[in-house]
Amino acid sequence: MKYSEIISERMWNQPDKGELEAERENTFIDDIVQKAHIEKELLQSLDGIKTAFDGGAGCGRFSILLAKKGIKVTHFDISQPMINKAKEIAAMEGVGERITFVKGALEDLSAYADRSFDLVMSFDSPISYTYPDQEKVIGELIRIANKRILISVSSRLGALPYLANPIQKNQFILDKDSKDLWVQWCISSRDRMVESFTFTKDKLLGAYESGLLCDVEEAKQAYDRGEIPWSISYHFMPDELERILKKYGVKEIKMAGPGAYARTIPNDILVKIMNDPSQREAFLDFCHMFDSNPYVCGMGKDNLFAKGEVE
Ligand SMILES: C[S@@+](CC[C@H](N)C(=O)[O-])C[C@H]1O[C@@H](n2cnc3c(N)ncnc32)[C@H](O)[C@@H]1O
Repeated sequence: MKYSEIISERMWNQPDKGELEAERENTFIDDIVQKAHIEKELLQSLDGIKTAFDGGAGCGRFSILLAKKGIKVTHFDISQPMINKAKEIAAMEGVGERITFVKGALEDLSAYADRSFDLVMSFDSPISYTYPDQEKVIGELIRIANKRILISVSSRLGALPYLANPIQKNQFILDKDSKDLWVQWCISSRDRMVESFTFTKDKLLGAYESGLLCDVEEAKQAYDRGEIPWSISYHFMPDELERILKKYGVKEIKMAGPGAYARTIPNDILVKIMNDPSQREAFLDFCHMFDSNPYVCGMGKDNLFAKGEVE
């Protein structure tokens, strides 16, 4: 097994991971915006779809949504705790029967024949975690798709501002009193992060060139010491992703940068919008339109979204 795979497996297999991921839309506004964008796109993409494959499906945010629409879904993920959480939510929603849960790594999709699923999806970066095999994995996901593919991967232009803004996540905290550990960490370490920050142009340029925000060798050594490093994640440029999709025959490609609009708005205004249901719905609609403009697609937040036809 490759380092990216075993590092990902160790990180996502932490026992509380499913629980924490299922809570992200209650804690961070950028996650609300991103998942709302994907949900809108997905719901517009279901004509003629009877079967779907969700690669890196997590706690079932989208596999369960499709099962509720009557689609037979294969929920595929490297992490057993995420699958367990998804099973629990699917049972509560009454759609457990319509979902086949499979533990596996995207690096090996050889169990699936060509064109096995009407729709293939993979959201919020599982593809990026397969570095250095990310391009091959996209090719494999397209191979098993019969009609349509929808993916979101880590975005290079979207993520680079993190390297000059280590407190960026604070902008998106929904409730400062939340007991969520990540929220509390963002608040308690804010001043320390600002004090210890130094702008390092070479680090930025390195990440801009390589698409890697972490040091791969350091991550491997940390893994060997028994630690739990964050998954190695490959960040795509928009034109690069489009080229790969075209290379494998995807047509009518539509791309977006969820979070491009929201990142321009300060926290207290975002919180105000989110806490008023009518403003919130209108805001998420506007974000969806704005973030779908090809001129801002690179400047979404963590993710770059793409969809297209494979027929
Ligand atoms: C951020 S979560 C996204 C979950 C879900 N797709 C969503 O959008 O809500 C990333 C998921 O990818 C899974 N994952 C990471 N590396 C993977 C790999 N190599 N193969 C399959 N799944 C992987 C993780 O276990 C985790 O559930």
